[in-house]
Amino acid sequence: MAIIKVRNSGEVVEGQENVHAFLEAQGVFFERWDMSKLPKKLVEKFDLTDDNKSEILQAYDSDIRSLVERRGYQNWDIVALSEQTPNLEELLKKFEQVHTHTEDEVRAITAGHGIFIVKGDEATGYFDIELEAGDVISVPENTPHFFTLMEDKQVVAVRLFIETEGWVAHSYEEKEHQL
Ligand SMILES: [Fe+2]
Repeated sequence: MAIIKVRNSGEVVEGQENVHAFLEAQGVFFERWDMSKLPKKLVEKFDLTDDNKSEILQAYDSDIRSLVERRGYQNWDIVALSEQTPNLEELLKKFEQVHTHTEDEVRAITAGHGIFIVKGDEATGYFDIELEAGDVISVPENTPHFFTLMEDKQVVAVRLFIETEGWVAHSYEEKEHQL
């Protein structure tokens, strides 16, 4: 289950109800997928073949279709990052730049961990959402954010898009002390 850490206040938000309430107030969509649907051999596997990726999409097909119906996504795929990923450090440097998109950024974590750092409302400022397998999140469109990995440096996630061309990162200038 996701944990939230508010950067300015140091507040930590834990537990399903609290996390849901916090994210809802910030306009961030959040839900959970049932991790028991994931085939055993793919649990915490990060070096994925194309067949493995298809198996993950198949296992969560009804959850994906449900999001599609509610939120209008057009296509989806799997992203896997780990120390076996060529240029992982370079990729992370790119991911760690504050940016926005003209559509929402939805990720369903199926293995490992990831952190979205999201700019909340004026009173809240930036907060970290530490995600684990089963967490599904959508950063709203035009909301400054960035992504990084946690100490395990590995993640597998389903990504859903409304328009592939719409999913472009626009850099967002943020003062260092705000982060
Ligand atoms: Fe993004």
